[in-house]
Amino acid sequence: MNYIERRQTSVSSRIIPVQPFDYVVFGATGDLTKRKLIPALYHRFMDGQFDEQSRIIGVSRSKLTDAEFQKAARDSIAQFVEKDYQDEKTVDRFVSTFSYVVNDVSDPAKWGDLSAKLRDDPKVVRAFYLAIAPDLFGPTCEYIKKQGYYRRDARVVIEKPLGHDLKSSIEINDEVSKIFAEDQVYRIDHYLGKETVQNLLALRFANILFEPVWNSAHIDHVQITVAESVGAGTRGYYDESGALRDMVQNHMLQLLCLVAMEPPASDDANALRDEKLKVLRSLKPIRNGDVSRMTVRGQYRNGSISGEVVPSYQDELPADRKGSKMETFVALKAEIENWRWSGVPFYFRTGKRLASRASEIVIQFRNIPHSIFDHAEGAPKPNRLIIRIQPDEGVKLLMMIKDPGPGGMRLREEPLNLSFAATFTERTPEAYERLLLDVIRGSQTLFMRRDELEAAWVWVDPIRDAWDKATDSPHLYHAGTWGPSAAVALIERDGRTWHEDDN
Ligand code: BG6
Repeated sequence: MNYIERRQTSVSSRIIPVQPFDYVVFGATGDLTKRKLIPALYHRFMDGQFDEQSRIIGVSRSKLTDAEFQKAARDSIAQFVEKDYQDEKTVDRFVSTFSYVVNDVSDPAKWGDLSAKLRDDPKVVRAFYLAIAPDLFGPTCEYIKKQGYYRRDARVVIEKPLGHDLKSSIEINDEVSKIFAEDQVYRIDHYLGKETVQNLLALRFANILFEPVWNSAHIDHVQITVAESVGAGTRGYYDESGALRDMVQNHMLQLLCLVAMEPPASDDANALRDEKLKVLRSLKPIRNGDVSRMTVRGQYRNGSISGEVVPSYQDELPADRKGSKMETFVALKAEIENWRWSGVPFYFRTGKRLASRASEIVIQFRNIPHSIFDHAEGAPKPNRLIIRIQPDEGVKLLMMIKDPGPGGMRLREEPLNLSFAATFTERTPEAYERLLLDVIRGSQTLFMRRDELEAAWVWVDPIRDAWDKATDSPHLYHAGTWGPSAAVALIERDGRTWHEDDN
């Protein structure tokens, strides 16, 4: 048995194959398809989760043949799948499920014909993945309908940018909903597909320990950090979007929802999304005068990250964008106005070119009401629960213990440490692996409902407006740091500090 066969045997008991499908990927030659979708499908194929009956149909304007598209799929695997998982025979079988249709949705005269590719058998799930710019969502849905490819049980997958504000988001959703009903629309926020993010649900709702203390009586504040070391200036889209729209409006607010929501009655998609929506609608608006007090935006200068010298955002931008005031860093203080969370701030921090890639949620508990250890060395510190999303996935609970040995009562803080890498030896699936097959399973639990998306924009828009009208510029920070000093001041004004991992 070779390495791959052994792996397949070891995971196969937990692999539940999905129904056969026809996955039509619009934007089949684009970056998302190459980097994420093909590698994710390959992994699921390799684990035996879908069979050779399933088909992947690439659609795009480029004039490719089936063989050329299959070659592109091979290249994507060679480039984006770890070497250990590249197995020639598996790749051959996988790409044999690929075919291609040339198509330009924006011009009916250039519409391609998918009819020979799509199977009418109702057992074959039909899914359309729109890995294309949102202004093409409308024309693509129209194409699907007019060509007769629509079925009431078909699914459509879309992803950000789902608008740049509430108005444009409504327009995009309106276009899609002309053809597809809400129970057919799968809006991806890939953070929801991450194992550690799903684990938040397990942590909160499969353990009795946390719920009784999960409220303002016991929690002092929450920190959500999504730090990246990559830059952004060479990505055309980013300078139109900025960190607030790119990360806060979607990924960070989704994380906030999972931390703050009430326990849903079940893991049914709508039960869960109803609860998330309530959180979004309870967010206290940050408007006008509050914006400068509650938010900080930054932009990176040049600097050095792990010994590598990197240019500033301005230096990366093309000539016609120089002088851009777009933020590459955001810190803010969010407040949820409901019984559970009143008075508990949620501090967000996200940025590009920060010191390292590190995403985590820190739940800072309140201090004990009274210490009996007046004479001990070291005062009791409040407990802290650290949910590490990436990398070094895991959960740590910082606890006070007695320093062992003689010498009197000495207190010290030590972590109860659940490291996923140490506990689970198997590879952790990428977010897209889970999400792509959830579409086939018909499970919308990890996808955003339209009202959630719109509630997020309602909260984000006034911040964006205030920044756009502001005469000042984002605070500059050196690449390789944790952002501008104003972000430190934001939390320190409240007598708190950003968590630093020294445990
Ligand atoms: C994307 C953003 O949605 O998420 C990117 O557009 C960001 O700017 C990325 O880099 C982060 O995702 P991950 O999975 O690498 O944390």
